[in-house]
Amino acid sequence: MTIVRRSPEAPHCPPLDRDRELIHVDCASHTYPDGSIGIHDMCFYVLKNEIVAICGPNGSGKSTLIEHLNGLLLPAQGSIWVNGRVISGGAQAGLWKEVGVVFQRSEDQLFAPTVLDDVMFGPLNLGLAPDEARARAMESLKAVGAADLVDKIPNYLSGGQKRLVSIAGILAMKPIVIAMDEPTSDLDPVHVAIIEEIILDLKEKHGISVVIATHDMDLAARIADRICLVRDGAVFAEGLPEEVFYDPALIAEAGLNLPAPVQAYLDLCHAAGIAPAARPLKTGDLVAVLGKIMSGRQAGS
Ligand SMILES: Nc1ncnc2c1ncn2[C@@H]1O[C@H](COP(=O)(O)OP(=O)(O)OP(=O)(O)O)[C@@H](O)[C@H]1O
Ligand SMILES: [Mg+2]
Repeated sequence: MTIVRRSPEAPHCPPLDRDRELIHVDCASHTYPDGSIGIHDMCFYVLKNEIVAICGPNGSGKSTLIEHLNGLLLPAQGSIWVNGRVISGGAQAGLWKEVGVVFQRSEDQLFAPTVLDDVMFGPLNLGLAPDEARARAMESLKAVGAADLVDKIPNYLSGGQKRLVSIAGILAMKPIVIAMDEPTSDLDPVHVAIIEEIILDLKEKHGISVVIATHDMDLAARIADRICLVRDGAVFAEGLPEEVFYDPALIAEAGLNLPAPVQAYLDLCHAAGIAPAARPLKTGDLVAVLGKIMSGRQAGS
């Protein structure tokens, strides 16, 4: 795909593609009761089996969009389809079964006396028998590497542990899409790596599409299949990571920074007087590209 640009004057939402899309947001607008515009003319979609990153600065509407994906908020204008069904007139009632949201603040999500109770809550609400719900909860806790926390009190967990349990609680409902709001904020590098692995596993092993809202461009460059740039409440550009992150003017327009490996590569190319031919997105890719450049230079010297 090439980078698609949209503007408020010409949002040009593509039509719903029922075969490929799990979620389709068509020109949705939401204004909060105090008059603040959360999103407007928002065009967004989630495909089957993809990780899509919503990238934008503070206050650009990322969380507001995420809260529309499972019916926590409804658009005042525009339409949202989930799994081919338009969400209006009460149709959002069971949406939590299909789209799970992991909030930025785990405190907003965890409420039960123990981790097991918390993760079992969703499956029990889906109508599973207690034994089945327990098995589902244990399976999810294992999937995120948090089985050892099963008897803990959620309130006393560390921030990273709370994030893992929150994800397990959503995974236990086996939704088709999981949307995560700032999934790695406040986490140490070890937990960032764990969450990244979980997000990749959700797609690869569980067949769940994942939406991440983030201003961590390094994270988005490492794991996203598609990047949606959000500014002032609307997606104004989208494309593949190698397209979007190799357009420095576009990233500056979004009020964001280039991912560190991209910036390093462009700086090195500039300093060495080489045209940037490759498009490394991750540190490992950058090292491989630099290795090739250096071995080429040594062979030529
Ligand atoms: N409950 C609310 N009441 C009033 N205004 C709100 C509310 N929630 C968000 N807003 C406003 O809506 C706009 C978008 O906010 P939102 O939280 O969606 O941004 P964000 O991109 O998630 O920002 P951040 O990166 O800081 O989390 C902002 O102007 C914000 O002030
Ligand atoms: Mg937010």
